[in-house]
Amino acid sequence: MPTPLAVERGVNLRPYNSFGLPAVAQQLVRVKADADIRRVLGDPQLGRAPKFVLGGGSNVVLTRDLDTLVLKVEVMGRRVVQERDDAVIVEFGAGETWHDAVAWTLDQGFAGLENMALIPGTVGAAPVQNIGAYGLELKDRFESLDAVDLVTGRSVHFDAGMCHFAYRDSVFKRELAGKSVITRVRLKLPRPWTPVVGYLDLERKMHESGITSPDARQIFDWVCAIRRSKLPDPALIGNAGSFFKNPVVSEEQCRDIIGRDPEIVHYPLPDGTVKLAAGWLIDACGWKGKTIGRAGVYEKQALVLVNRGGASGAEVVTLARAIQESVYGRFGIRLEPEPVVV
Ligand code: EPU
Repeated sequence: MPTPLAVERGVNLRPYNSFGLPAVAQQLVRVKADADIRRVLGDPQLGRAPKFVLGGGSNVVLTRDLDTLVLKVEVMGRRVVQERDDAVIVEFGAGETWHDAVAWTLDQGFAGLENMALIPGTVGAAPVQNIGAYGLELKDRFESLDAVDLVTGRSVHFDAGMCHFAYRDSVFKRELAGKSVITRVRLKLPRPWTPVVGYLDLERKMHESGITSPDARQIFDWVCAIRRSKLPDPALIGNAGSFFKNPVVSEEQCRDIIGRDPEIVHYPLPDGTVKLAAGWLIDACGWKGKTIGRAGVYEKQALVLVNRGGASGAEVVTLARAIQESVYGRFGIRLEPEPVVV
């Protein structure tokens, strides 16, 4: 006999979102396996309730209490699925902490995820926004995932093509938002391993240390050090990483901005468009270190909004809007938030 579904009521979500924002879930079920979701769907009352899927809570701004049923994904497990000549395939439960997964692969002797060390959140959330850092994105290491359809209750296998990965984007943020729950993710760690060290901050580390052929553990350590030096630890200061995406503009638009602000940080993309550093744009508008209510702009990286202590989701959203308006006013560019505002 399966144990009855445990439905928790009036759950404080503050510990479950990295911004540390106050919100209460009317009902919450911890999902440990695909079957738990089917049991929720088969329940006469829970099955009909609107649902909200919560992973590590590192990419969400909670502005209100949730009268929906919160499905908190806690599917655990890590294993090597296959060792091939060209790659090692590893599988993680969606509830595993992303950084622990990265560290575990290195401990097993498998390189390939080191550039994405210390990204907050869970493995299940990683494909949703195609996380990325220091020259690598999840899609570069993605094999497949399993998700449960919230209408039919069926487990569905997704390959990379089905996920429609793009910069901080996927089908799970768009057509399938709120419609499926990712339960397991498989990653492909290519063999032979080649280091990805083209990102400016990593090139700087190589130059400073004199190490010209770093191994994966060295890159992992560098990435951890770089992140710790400029990004706040969510355990100490509530935040959701970069709050805005880096905007992409046409070459013509970029030339126009460079004409007025020659020092703007920008990266030409292979398709002729240009990615601008949103942190630079926000910084240039004088926002670094500023505070509205109890929400602020991090002192060392203007792209990160922080909870100065006791902030509400509404205060974070007010600050974000003020930043968007001032960047639009000066540069004519609309910044798009990275986290989901609920
Ligand atoms: N910059 C400023 N002022 C600031 C912040 C940045 O002038 O206050 C300039 C920097 O000097 C640098 C440029 O902007 O020349 C880019 O900054 P950085 O290298 O720190 O990277 P980013 O574009 O701000 C992106 C990702 C991060 C990821 C890093 C490293 C996005 C939205 N953010 O940040 O991802 O860790 O690159 O790859 O793409 C996240 O998504 O949550 C995240 C932290």
